[in-house]
Amino acid sequence: MERIQSVTGHREDGRAACVVCEATLEGSRCGHCGAAVAPGGYRVQRVISQSVHGRVYLAVGADGRGVALKELLFALVPGTEQLDAFEREAAVLRSLSHPDIPRFVASFKEGSGVGTRLYLAQEFLEGESLLQRIERKRLDEDEAWTLASQVLKTLQALHQRTPALIHRDVKPANLILRPDGRAALVDFGAARHLARDVTHGATLVGTFGYMPPEQLGGTVEPSSDLYALGATLVHALSGRMPADLLDDGLALSFEQHVQGSAPLRAFLRRLLAQKRSERFASATDALTALRAARAAPPSEAAGARKGTVTPLSQADGATAQPASLESEVRAVGEVATEAAPALSKRRIVRRVLVGVSLAMLLAGALLAGGLIDQEPVVVVEDPPAAVVPVRPGTPPPPSRSAPPGGGSHRNFRTPWPGASSSSSTSSGSH
Ligand SMILES: Nc1ncnc2c1ncn2[C@@H]1O[C@H](COP(=O)(O)OP(=O)(O)O)[C@@H](O)[C@H]1O
Ligand SMILES: [Mg+2]
Repeated sequence: MERIQSVTGHREDGRAACVVCEATLEGSRCGHCGAAVAPGGYRVQRVISQSVHGRVYLAVGADGRGVALKELLFALVPGTEQLDAFEREAAVLRSLSHPDIPRFVASFKEGSGVGTRLYLAQEFLEGESLLQRIERKRLDEDEAWTLASQVLKTLQALHQRTPALIHRDVKPANLILRPDGRAALVDFGAARHLARDVTHGATLVGTFGYMPPEQLGGTVEPSSDLYALGATLVHALSGRMPADLLDDGLALSFEQHVQGSAPLRAFLRRLLAQKRSERFASATDALTALRAARAAPPSEAAGARKGTVTPLSQADGATAQPASLESEVRAVGEVATEAAPALSKRRIVRRVLVGVSLAMLLAGALLAGGLIDQEPVVVVEDPPAAVVPVRPGTPPPPSRSAPPGGGSHRNFRTPWPGASSSSSTSSGSH
């Protein structure tokens, strides 16, 4: 746990001052901003976050160690449901021991009736939330893979407990990026144990945009957290709130907003599948696929371009659930689409050069022989590159700027920089 240099709030005139707003203090709570002073003996240093339900403070315990002190306030006298929810969050945190989850320190109550305050003290984690980081700078692809891997390991540990623990509120605000490069998962206020593999009829808890469709209907299972991780990654990569990217069918349509390699996009599609059966079956399966995608050598990626490589969804190893045919096809289709621009561009440039050279040779030969008859020449694409004289009256061959319909469209997707929409979806770094 971090040792915190304690801030003592005193004004120049020696009177106690609130460390949050600097107003003069007269009781156990600032009369101006409402911040607590030292609940349970934890001296408040600053406010980390606040919402309508309360605040999270950085506070210092008697031992000088920093705690994140979560305070819940109530507009009315808290009922059993609210008290139970608080008890549950404290009990869940107390039961967890994981390097990427803050340690439980204490939970206590102060005041009574409508003045009741509930407190949960936990290990203070240095760092910034992923939400703050996104607001500063989006994640690049490498960072996104690293984050995904770290969060999946934490989810794996939670889901493998008996009974499984589903976090239900994975999102950027609940992930803390620590100075040592690790990502910690916080806020177990929505976490729920599964009685069986799936829980139906749970209270609607979570954050819109990060919640999968089944959670909106009160059903959760481990893959619900995987979906939320997918939405979190989309937010981190695109800078766009997932709620703003939902289509009419409430599917998160991220394709236009996330620049990334084909494997990354295929991975996101598996996390974000609307149908639970099309998602990774578990955090373990997602991790296996992630490792395979990251370990794939460039030659294997080249194989993918020919449609021969195993897409993410097939690279899960023995523990993987069989992926649906639809998602397999979509993954392969994605790879092919990503690869097409680079290939066709190179091929076209080569053919244009060959064609121009041949045309110059032919024109030179005709000129030398005094036989030129001013016929236009065109370079045809396929196969092989050649110079074809066009006879008067012959219909012109397809123009490259206006490709014909019926099958050859892919060859025309990005022959020139910026000429096709596919350039906006082309891959970034792997
Ligand atoms: N243990 C912790 N260490 C450091 N910061 C924390 C810790 N727990 C929470 N926070 C910060 O406080 C914010 C709010 O805490 P959280 O538990 O998510 O409460 P809420 O229920 O209000 O969302 C988090 O988004 C995070 O930035
Ligand atoms: Mg939270």
